[in-house]
Amino acid sequence: MQAILLSGGFGTRMRPLTYTTPKPLLPLLNKSLVQHIIDSLPKEVKEVVLAANYKIDMLREYFEDVNLDREVHIVDEPEPRGTAGAVKNVESYVDDTFFVINSDIISSLDFRNYLDFYREKDGIGAISAWRVDDPTEFGVMDISKDSRIKRFQEKPAPEEAFSRKVNAGHYILEPEVFDRIPEGEKVSMEREIFPDLVEEGLFGYEFEGYWIDCGRPSSLFEAHRTLLDEMGKKRLVGDKSSIEGELGEYVTVGKDCRIGKSSIYNSMIYDGVEIGKGCIIEDSILGYDVVVEDNVTIKDSIISDNLYLEKNKEVIKEKFEPEEKEI
Ligand code: GDD
Ligand code: MG
Repeated sequence: MQAILLSGGFGTRMRPLTYTTPKPLLPLLNKSLVQHIIDSLPKEVKEVVLAANYKIDMLREYFEDVNLDREVHIVDEPEPRGTAGAVKNVESYVDDTFFVINSDIISSLDFRNYLDFYREKDGIGAISAWRVDDPTEFGVMDISKDSRIKRFQEKPAPEEAFSRKVNAGHYILEPEVFDRIPEGEKVSMEREIFPDLVEEGLFGYEFEGYWIDCGRPSSLFEAHRTLLDEMGKKRLVGDKSSIEGELGEYVTVGKDCRIGKSSIYNSMIYDGVEIGKGCIIEDSILGYDVVVEDNVTIKDSIISDNLYLEKNKEVIKEKFEPEEKEI
């Protein structure tokens, strides 16, 4: 079985982090987002197809270095083709019922149970469903008692949303769906393809636990805290990192970091970061190889890769962009 991971798009809401790292490779608990998803796939998924277009060389490099017991294909799109166009572009890699997964979702979905649910139905596909308070940023689905999806609405205005159950971004589809997607065009699965498949049987699969669309830094933090809680850990430190200071709750430190007598709370520190003494870091992300001199305070901020923060600096609610942006 194959799983297509939708891994394109510029990740604009995740800037400045995505100026230097494609969204699927953003670290979460010192592991890339996409790796979290791959690790949760059931055994019968022997092949993973990354439908990508942005910073594809970084994706290739990343997968050269990781050891997976599945085959990974990284397939480039000539230009961003939208969620359905991206699926169409990798049609030749798929030979039977397949998964399509938004690669920015961190969730407790059990793919095995999901597949069992789908196999009992007679339809052309299934979509995972999650209940939210505010559906306006998502795809809304009207699901009947027998789990059939009857209607869709993509990102509705608050007064128009007909349900609070949203598309949670994991699809199981039959290969016939490829015939519905025009070739070589930009096509949206959610807006243009799913509404037309309703007649043929699309089923909504609701699950329990947690579901986070890591589309913006605040939701990445939510995923960071949720996963640490799930592991029963307060903090995580990567290999070959030395820490003299105090790490409070919800702190992850990547590998090869050197942290002096400083205090860090609710923050993500990527690989290769150096922090001097007397610093306070709270609710922030420090990108790869950032250097922070002594007595710096950083709160509610994102510091892009490789940046240097001089002594005594105070950084509050700032997003420091990288010196070189490559889009
Ligand atoms: N290859 C490729 N090409 N991938 C793409 C493209 C493209 O042109 N555009 C988006 N993607 C990928 C993104 O990287 C992401 O993994 C996934 O497709 C969904 O795109 P987002 O841009 O993150 O969409 P969204 O979060 O606004 O909405 C989607 O996800 C929601 C759940 O998180 C929709 O599917 C909503 O209906 C859904 O509720
Ligand atoms: Mg998203």
